[in-house]
Amino acid sequence: MSSEGQPLLEVHDVKKHFDVKSHGAKAVLRAVDGVSLSLNSGETLGVVGESGCGKSTLARMIVGLEKPTDGKILMEGGDISTPGRAGRAYRANVQMVFQNPSGSMNPRRSIGASVAEPLQARGVRNCREEVAKVLARVGLNPDFASRRPHQLSGGQQQRASIARALISDPRLVVHDEAIASLDISLQAQILNLLLDLQQELGMSYVFISHDLAAVQIISHRIVVMYLGEVVEATSAGEFARQPLHPYSLSLRAATLFPDPERERNKPHVLLKGDVPSPLAPPSGCRFHPRCPLATDLCKAEKPRLSKIAEEHHVACHYPEKTPTITEGGAGASRSTETAREVI
Ligand SMILES: Nc1ncnc2c1ncn2[C@@H]1O[C@H](COP(=O)(O)OP(=O)(O)OP(=O)(O)O)[C@@H](O)[C@H]1O
Ligand code: SF4
Ligand SMILES: [Mg+2]
Repeated sequence: MSSEGQPLLEVHDVKKHFDVKSHGAKAVLRAVDGVSLSLNSGETLGVVGESGCGKSTLARMIVGLEKPTDGKILMEGGDISTPGRAGRAYRANVQMVFQNPSGSMNPRRSIGASVAEPLQARGVRNCREEVAKVLARVGLNPDFASRRPHQLSGGQQQRASIARALISDPRLVVHDEAIASLDISLQAQILNLLLDLQQELGMSYVFISHDLAAVQIISHRIVVMYLGEVVEATSAGEFARQPLHPYSLSLRAATLFPDPERERNKPHVLLKGDVPSPLAPPSGCRFHPRCPLATDLCKAEKPRLSKIAEEHHVACHYPEKTPTITEGGAGASRSTETAREVI
């Protein structure tokens, strides 16, 4: 929490609906459909869910690249969409790291020039010293400032992207699939770097990934999204012990854990079918066509995201029916182990 006791980031019932054409007719695509969440200072919030569930759209709204159709996003209590200087000041406190570092760095500019961009956008002219400092902080030799992106390996490029996000000293960094394009040993290195930087600098992260094992390691809290909605929100420790939404459990079943014992003990819940289209979400519980526990009530009535225990919210009519995970569980959480030990 900030000194005033309010969360750093608050997302209140945020929606992003896109007007699209489907089979030649106008249609509304509900990419994000009423998401609420909050994040405290120094904390990491992991966001997981299958492709197309709205993770990147939510991330783009949090950093101000996309405007919500409805709802509010507050940084330290201030609306980030406020026009003028106040809104710009809120947005300057938030930076984003993307999946593909080579695509997000201009190939014709030096690494130093790209890393300096956020400071120069604020009117700072000579940033050479700041660039050298932030490159060293992410484990790159300051000489890399004069190189072009193609002269760096994938891991070095991702370190440079992180340096660019850090140079303006943000309170919050949103990582959208930031380790997805790297091989497994580089993923561990980048996760460890993010853990170290957070400990050193105290900033908050929103960490978005398909990779539940990585999300469990880096996050203090986890939200699971399905078809534009949050279906479960809880602490990483609780999520490792016992997710309560059938969809969360199926994500756990689909995750490949590097530890053979965890792999053996993970739940076996098979998902039926594909994710339905966000152009025509199913009635009632959006997960009902794929849920092994679905009843007529699930088809008719949408379950609310309800508090089940302290800091554990689930949107399911029957959370008590979700199969229990074997003792020893499937997956480590930040509270128990770090990337150094797990990957
Ligand atoms: N600008 C846009 N116009 C129309 N539809 C969009 C737009 N951006 C995203 N969408 C749609 O919104 C839905 C959510 O997309 P989004 O990229 O947020 O999902 P995601 O969870 O990040 O997926 P992935 O894991 O594949 O990155 C998808 O159906 C996508 O096709
Ligand atoms: S509300 Fe019903 S369909 Fe939805 S997740 Fe719970 S049991 Fe499954
Ligand atoms: Mg995405």
